[in-house]
Amino acid sequence: MEKISRTKITDLLKREDFGAMVNVKGWVRTRRGSKQVCFIALNDGSTIHNVQVVVDLDRFDEAVLKDVTTGACLSVNGELVESVGSGQKVEVQAREIEVLGACDNTYPLQKKGHSMEFLREIAHLRPRTNTFGAVFRIRHNMAIAIHKFFHDRGFYYFHTPIITASDCEGAGQMFQVTTMNLYDLKKDKDGNIVYDNDFFGKQASLTVSGQLEGELAATALGAIYTFGPTFRAENSNTPRHLAEFWMVEPEVAFADLAELMDLEEEFIKYCVQWALDNCMDDLEFLNKMVDKGLLERLRGVVETDFVRLPYTEGIKILEEAVAGGKKFEFPVYWGCDLASEHERYLVEQHFRRPVIMTDYPKEIKAFYMKQNADGRTVQGTDVLFPQIGEIIGGSVREENYDKLMARIEELHIPMKDMWWYLDTRRYGTCPHAGFGLGFERLLLFVTGMANIRDVIPFPRTPRNAEF
Ligand code: 4AD
Ligand code: MG
Repeated sequence: MEKISRTKITDLLKREDFGAMVNVKGWVRTRRGSKQVCFIALNDGSTIHNVQVVVDLDRFDEAVLKDVTTGACLSVNGELVESVGSGQKVEVQAREIEVLGACDNTYPLQKKGHSMEFLREIAHLRPRTNTFGAVFRIRHNMAIAIHKFFHDRGFYYFHTPIITASDCEGAGQMFQVTTMNLYDLKKDKDGNIVYDNDFFGKQASLTVSGQLEGELAATALGAIYTFGPTFRAENSNTPRHLAEFWMVEPEVAFADLAELMDLEEEFIKYCVQWALDNCMDDLEFLNKMVDKGLLERLRGVVETDFVRLPYTEGIKILEEAVAGGKKFEFPVYWGCDLASEHERYLVEQHFRRPVIMTDYPKEIKAFYMKQNADGRTVQGTDVLFPQIGEIIGGSVREENYDKLMARIEELHIPMKDMWWYLDTRRYGTCPHAGFGLGFERLLLFVTGMANIRDVIPFPRTPRNAEF
């Protein structure tokens, strides 16, 4: 076959130099035709759109075409011509076709309209569908948007460790990391496992958050963000929980509660606007095929101000709703940890826009949050989104050594693992604040997908670590 340098389909579809000889490579989505002519829809992943390859059967040997089946990988040389019927402005009139990889007839993506559940079972092939191609292109774009947002504002990308000995959220939901022989564990006289001979010489786990190390960095570099994989061994089989997910965590020296909320709001709006500016083909596809209200919702969020609501006022609204006949599964009272039904009521029915809830009871939040003068609440914020519930959790941090220590003691957090964190409060402590955004929760919102397992390439959930 003549060597012509490859054009990606996304670029090819924009060309107008009809008559040029081009090469495209990609996978056959569909093949149809008659005795005289065969139409191949070819996709190379560079765009949601296929290019139509027209094969004049007089010019080609049947033998070449026998392997041109759904899923096969082709290289096509041909003439770029103006198209009338393909839905695109251009198509390729084939001159030479090489089958780079034939496709077994057991290929599971034959017919259209597979269920999301079925596609999860073939997660190794689902990126080849239109929906998952769109989702993963958007996922890439959101990662770029995140780096751009922070870089442009002078934040440094700081890499926090994945293996750690401290439980940031104190929720005991950590996956242990060990090289010990599980069949032959050394125990002390009280039956506790002895970790002296384990790889790190102490109990270690996968991180639930990069925040604690992020705080160290913020008190040196001023403003930083981490963006990496995060692990939680919570046994939650919901459409919004993963055991392995990605979290974006900025941390800012000298920021107060109002500045924290401004950053949270500006950040989410920037990411959504980025999708609207850079992913329109994919969003239009998802708007048509997955969620008819998607584009309207995305545009809505960019334009509306988020509500800022103290927890105590939120509880009042919920209690009034209950008094007015609204039924919730879980009880509402001051001090309760809001369930997602409560959060969604506030966001979807009461305010009908995103809500940043603040000043939670200290009992239901992590040890590091700054304590308010009332002695009961802390300067924590949750950003609550329609359909999703909590998308961001953040707070102003308790920078006062004594107050922080008191809280650590109250909660019986093992001190020996925390000495380095406490040093920040001893050596030039400063007010600071930060938040964590669940990357996949953002993607749920931006793509309109209903299940978090469908916005990460290879989801890890309870009893599932395939691929
Ligand atoms: O609210 P979380 O637990 O906050 C923290 O971890 C803080 N240390 C962050 C910080 O202040 N630097 O988690 C933050 C966000 C949640 O709002 C949610 O979007 C996401 O992480 N998240 C999950 N996403 C998917 N699956 C899970 N199991 C998640 N748990 C939390
Ligand atoms: Mg949270």
